[in-house]
Amino acid sequence: MKTEEEQMNSYNCKVCKDTTWILDDTGKVIDRCKCYEIIKVREQWEASGLKTDDLDKTFKTYEPWNNLTKHMKGAATNYCLRFKEIEKTKHNSILLCGQPGSGKTHLCIALANNFIKKDGKRVVYMPYRDVITKLKQNILDKEYYKNLVGKYQLAEILLIDDLFKGKVNETDINIMFEIINHRYINKLPLIVSTEYLIEEMLSFDEAIGSRIYEMAKGFIVEIRGKENNYRLRG
Ligand SMILES: Nc1ncnc2c1ncn2[C@@H]1O[C@H](COP(=O)(O)OP(=O)(O)OP(=O)(O)O)[C@@H](O)[C@H]1O
Ligand SMILES: [Mg+2]
Ligand SMILES: [Zn+2]
Repeated sequence: MKTEEEQMNSYNCKVCKDTTWILDDTGKVIDRCKCYEIIKVREQWEASGLKTDDLDKTFKTYEPWNNLTKHMKGAATNYCLRFKEIEKTKHNSILLCGQPGSGKTHLCIALANNFIKKDGKRVVYMPYRDVITKLKQNILDKEYYKNLVGKYQLAEILLIDDLFKGKVNETDINIMFEIINHRYINKLPLIVSTEYLIEEMLSFDEAIGSRIYEMAKGFIVEIRGKENNYRLRG
């Protein structure tokens, strides 16, 4: 038998004994415990598909080291600040595109971290290349495929990282259209990073490209030039 003290010490939260509820003397619920928000954030972060390393990708750790990175950071922080106001509109997304190594993924993940931690949003991270491969591998398993596509169609906020990376064929385009079009029709926000410029993205597939373009209107940053590659900077 555990003593009462041992029993108490086994709880993560002694206030609510890990129930997340505060009760009065009669056992009636009066309030949520403070630990609830912390647990919720942790669970949402775990469900997002982000990795532990990604916790370091924040606005704080993103150094605005030249004009373009200053501009890109400004666009991302501005998007974050205005999100509440634009969330339900047709233009509620952001697109960072172009030059590899310019910190597109870093800023997209900083946004995701922020939305999860500060606003309790359910963000789903979709590393394009891995996910499209997995979807194609399972395309004949109708139930599983539908569920997996649904995860990306329905996420409260979807972060597509490195869109169209690698060889892109018709199946890839069809799958991405299913996801993007659903979000477009239902005004569900996207955070997109891709190494392609807008013109190139449109030439891959105009239906997808133009939808993303419209959704991200006002928050599109196109980065050109090796001088903006953080990996190559002097
Ligand atoms: N301005 C910056 N401040 C701090 N770290 C940065 C900055 N820009 C890039 N990095 C770091 O450099 C690495 C490359 O950046 P990132 O992966 O975000 O680039 P990217 O634009 O997504 O490139 P790619 O097109 O190759 O995916 C990452 O480790 C990132 O954290
Ligand atoms: Mg990237
Ligand atoms: Zn508690």
